[in-house]
Amino acid sequence: MDVLKIYEQKSDAISDTKEIVISIDQLTTEEELKEVKQIIYKKKIKGAVFFNVSLKEKELTEVLYKLTENLNIPVVLNDETKDLKKQIQNKRESYPFELTYFDYPKGKQEYSIESLLTVGNGYLGLRGTSPEMLISDSNYPGTYVASVYNTAESLVDNTTIENEDFVNLPNGQKMYLIIDGEVITIEDNDLNSIKRTLNLKTGELTINSEIMLKNGALLSICVNKMASMSQRNYYGIQYSFKLDRLVSDIQFVSELDGDVNNYNVERYRKLTNHHLTVIDKKVEGAKASLLVRTNQSNIEVYQESRLLSQDINLNKLDNQILDKKIKQQVTITAEADKWLTVEKIVFMTKNQTEDKALNEFPKYTNLLLESEKEWEKLWEEAAIKVTGDLMSQKMLNLHTYHMLSSASPNGNKDLDASITARGLHGEAYRGHIFWDELFMLPFYIIHFPETAKQLLMYRYDRLEMAKQLAKEEGHLGAMYPWQSGLDGREQSQKLHLNPLSGEWKEDHSRRQRHVSLAIAYNVWSYYQYTKDQDFLNNYGTEMLTEITKFWLSLTTYDEKKDRYSIKGVMGPDEFHEAYSGSKEGGLDNNAYTNLMVTWLLGIMPIVKKESLTAVNLDFETINNIQKKLKLDINEAGVIAQFEGYFNLKEIDWDYYQNKYGNVYRMDRILNAEGKSPDDYKVAKQADSLMIFYNFPKEKVTELLTTLNYHLPEDYVEKNLLYYLNRTSHGSTLSRVVHSQLAEMVDDRELAWKLYQEALYSDYRDIQGGTTAEGIHTGVMASTLHITLSAFAGLDIRGDLIKLNPHLPEQWSELSFTFSKQLIHFKVTVTKNTIVIYVNKDCSVMIGSECVSLKAKENNVINY
Ligand code: BGC
Repeated sequence: MDVLKIYEQKSDAISDTKEIVISIDQLTTEEELKEVKQIIYKKKIKGAVFFNVSLKEKELTEVLYKLTENLNIPVVLNDETKDLKKQIQNKRESYPFELTYFDYPKGKQEYSIESLLTVGNGYLGLRGTSPEMLISDSNYPGTYVASVYNTAESLVDNTTIENEDFVNLPNGQKMYLIIDGEVITIEDNDLNSIKRTLNLKTGELTINSEIMLKNGALLSICVNKMASMSQRNYYGIQYSFKLDRLVSDIQFVSELDGDVNNYNVERYRKLTNHHLTVIDKKVEGAKASLLVRTNQSNIEVYQESRLLSQDINLNKLDNQILDKKIKQQVTITAEADKWLTVEKIVFMTKNQTEDKALNEFPKYTNLLLESEKEWEKLWEEAAIKVTGDLMSQKMLNLHTYHMLSSASPNGNKDLDASITARGLHGEAYRGHIFWDELFMLPFYIIHFPETAKQLLMYRYDRLEMAKQLAKEEGHLGAMYPWQSGLDGREQSQKLHLNPLSGEWKEDHSRRQRHVSLAIAYNVWSYYQYTKDQDFLNNYGTEMLTEITKFWLSLTTYDEKKDRYSIKGVMGPDEFHEAYSGSKEGGLDNNAYTNLMVTWLLGIMPIVKKESLTAVNLDFETINNIQKKLKLDINEAGVIAQFEGYFNLKEIDWDYYQNKYGNVYRMDRILNAEGKSPDDYKVAKQADSLMIFYNFPKEKVTELLTTLNYHLPEDYVEKNLLYYLNRTSHGSTLSRVVHSQLAEMVDDRELAWKLYQEALYSDYRDIQGGTTAEGIHTGVMASTLHITLSAFAGLDIRGDLIKLNPHLPEQWSELSFTFSKQLIHFKVTVTKNTIVIYVNKDCSVMIGSECVSLKAKENNVINY
């Protein structure tokens, strides 16, 4: 095996001999890294060995971790006593499941690390803080339970506005030490080192820190933390510490702290952010409990904790019931270099009638073991494996992990909740549910259809509210809100703050009525894949029918042009809210919307025309609408985002790029300059192009033909190029769509570039601070989806599974599993073969050929 040898101290320059030797200081700049990576790629180097001279253990671990990341191959320590090949292999397997941070940057960056280190199970989520950390500008220990929202009023510019927030719940994680009077908060102490590792495979977070105390002693703390995947109401923390000398004045403190508020999102801090009233507090021995109620929505959340320790006498606990919290503390003496451990297991529920705490709480190791077993099953079902690209593998694991922490079959069973735009990881977008579900559903449909159904039920259970919303606006059927929370009311703001100018502006985003189309698409995709007739009969048809009614009632007929229009709506591109100078929000004939409505009207008889009679339209008119919705298409075959789009001004990208550097929020830049994005051909994200994300080219062509529009053969390429040049990717949902499209038109380089950027969205916080407020579940799920759809060519939308691989150059193998109607597929794609293992005989489409698969053997297909 060719390995790269990296020396810690200066040695020869990169040699092109058989043995590649390099010194670590040749790996510092981007250029140097690029050069070495090219050698690695050309020579197909599988791993590197690091020759250490002076680095101490901690520095060494960090150097090895970072070198592995930067070189994208396993880098191991030279150790002649060990089998190097095996070491490299082990690292190749373990590294992509390890998310480690070696620093403590405090503030936005730290907030973002905490989002990424969140542990959760779909029911509850705990941000990745250490138990000592307090709510501050440095850290944000957030605790969430799915669908716990509260509405509060705030005064903005002399106007009272209402916001429904995703509530930060009492901090039951809290544990800390007071040593010789010095309170350990991490933030305020003299921190020697900190290393935080989230094990993506097991869901356990480990934090090791070392603190120089004011009394001269060295304190080491080791924290393990997990949210149980086997018992969704439980989470556990193991808190261990040692001192390097005997210290007798130590207080160990544990709290159930109800004195919390929503503080995660800086721009919301001026608004009302206290949502809880503590209504009951109990403590007895090592057991404590706290009951809170949300101030307006009246949701009661109960937490009960137990402390357990072999090392500390908890019989001596001094228990105090304070105003909004319970405090349990005990005085201890620590001998030199002796680890002392306390465990805290917490039960948490928002439904005390159904969820009861066990009399005997599980021990941490048991809770972890049981949870690990569940994680193992989830990974078996959902893991995507790529060979030859360690970092893509790691990002895919990170995204799988966070999706499962946001919603899982274990945490979401019978839960009345959907997946928030920012997971159970932060408070941006107030934990609301958007059309982002469209990007997330495929992951659940192919791996965990029961969870996909549960997520759709969240929408079904708010159908009545959607009908009311339609009625209030003078429409028929169901109009789902752009932002949905507790009861499905519209939660979008009416005013929006531009952080660049500090000004509040009217917000028309609720006019993104296409959210209802996303819901219809999700219902249809779920049914199409699972053939769950029961769901369709009892819920799906009703939702589709009501949504269809809504769209029909929104159309208007222009006799002169003999075309139907849908007016006053916004497409997914949020930069365009209204026509220039108009006070009314919305635009006419958004292409994505009109094409999706054409599709919707075409999926009858699922919708059942008979049930549409309430619209007072005869079948002929309905058919006419389906054929005559209006689009604006130019001579080159570019589909205008909306009517009038081609009259807008072009933007001088170079000018803005030079002036501002980062232009991804071009809307804010233009607004702050007194201009409006409404006047320019500038998009936040894919809009017209979204139709190609939802459907293959043939289907889109069919929809266009239904509308009697005939475009040139290369219209997908043309539209992609046109809009890509005018898109700032201000939403993380943008790159995934463009990447999938680039792959569709065989622009492999572009597809890969955008895919890579999307993979790193949260890991590198590419929007410069938004990950601090929670992960981006839409893009995370979508990268998992397009890995399969773009690179394996997996298409689940037809009756037969289709595969049409285009493996990226960087990968030698891509493996994944999924289940469709009791058939379990295990697929491995290499550069020229597809190997499929199924548990039942069946057929699949490989490209345009139908291939029969034999059960319980490896079906090898060349492509
Ligand atoms: C995007 C929307 C998305 C929302 C929530 C916005 O930035 O423009 O498409 O639904 O974020 O993720």
